[in-house]
Amino acid sequence: MPARDATLLNRMAMYTGNRLKIGLFGANCSSGRSATMVAERWSASWPDCLRLARMAEAAGIDFMLPIARWKGYGGATDFHGTSLETMTWAAALLAATERITVFGTVHAPLFNPLIAAKEFVTADHIGEGRFGLNLVVGWNEGEFEMFGVSQREHEERYAFAQEWLDAVMRAWSAPDTFDFAGNYLKLSAVRANPKPYGGTRPIIMNAGSSPTGQAFALRNCDAYFTANAASRLSLAAAAAQVDEIKRQARANGREIEVFTVGQVICRPTQKEADEYYRHALIEQADWGAVDGMLALKNITPRTLPIEEFEKKRRYFAGNAIGGYPYVGTPDRVAEELANISRAGMRGIAVSFVNYLNELPYFCDEVLPRLARLGVREIP
Ligand SMILES: Cc1cc2nc3c(=O)[nH]c(=O)nc-3n(C[C@H](O)[C@H](O)[C@H](O)COP(=O)(O)O)c2cc1C
Repeated sequence: MPARDATLLNRMAMYTGNRLKIGLFGANCSSGRSATMVAERWSASWPDCLRLARMAEAAGIDFMLPIARWKGYGGATDFHGTSLETMTWAAALLAATERITVFGTVHAPLFNPLIAAKEFVTADHIGEGRFGLNLVVGWNEGEFEMFGVSQREHEERYAFAQEWLDAVMRAWSAPDTFDFAGNYLKLSAVRANPKPYGGTRPIIMNAGSSPTGQAFALRNCDAYFTANAASRLSLAAAAAQVDEIKRQARANGREIEVFTVGQVICRPTQKEADEYYRHALIEQADWGAVDGMLALKNITPRTLPIEEFEKKRRYFAGNAIGGYPYVGTPDRVAEELANISRAGMRGIAVSFVNYLNELPYFCDEVLPRLARLGVREIP
């Protein structure tokens, strides 16, 4: 008798009744999602990650979502310069916990699909049905260069990822030996056992923001992550966005849940929260790292008028890297998070400047409020 009923529905519910799922985003990378120079910025060391996962699980947090990052972005802190590889990180955290869902984030072009499929299955057995896959195609040229792999044209990245994921799904489900003959992948006499835990499969997410990336998610994934947070929009506009994504998935005969990402700075007063936000993310921003990330998107003082560039870099430091900033009192943060749920989103992956220091206050103050607002169970 398996320890857990790992139906796809239960996997998506992350084995809790929380309507709004809350996860932690980016804890495997140095500085997390905050390009800041403050001394308390996130280490991403293994002991800190392990303590964090155990603390998060005990407090009722639903999932952990790492970032697959291979190379730092430079700047004074070399933002993301130290990162733990996500599959080994996920497997170890799953072994050390009992209830929380842990994702592994994998660049399809960098891994042989059968090795990856077996890693996913192994992590899924370790976690007894709690492993989730974030499949990414990559966007950062420098990361590929260091592997000696050249980045395909944008559209083709997703064509390759489709074949790659098809091969993984075959390995997860095929009862017998099979061959796989795609345009990119030719695999012969494949045998892959065991299958994922409980006779189902891990949940799959993707966060492509281009039309092709989004279409890939709608065709293949259980969860679509959008960085375009509901909180930036009116409730009605956010609800319309979520409805449209779900409608398109249903047109393909699929159900998909929509998630978003955000950065939380929660303090007893609005003034304290605002001051820390300004201090950590603006005054002490690692501007070298911010400029490095923007340059990868071809946003530089040479490609844009200087005022526009300044506006973009300030926005990117204070909003875009970590996602929408939820800055304020527990009442305000809870209200804004509840709005995401009201818009029909299934969950959010949040980051903190220092996850271990800030998570206890968030869990003590915000989670009970979310239960009172009817979007989460009583912690
Ligand atoms: C929640 C979230 C997680 C992501 N994780 C990663 C990651 O770990 N590694 C990565 O290279 N890209 C990551 N991305 C980038 C996306 O996978 C995607 O490449 C990017 O949004 C650009 O979209 P496009 O590929 O459709 O052009 C993430 C994006 C979001 C919103």
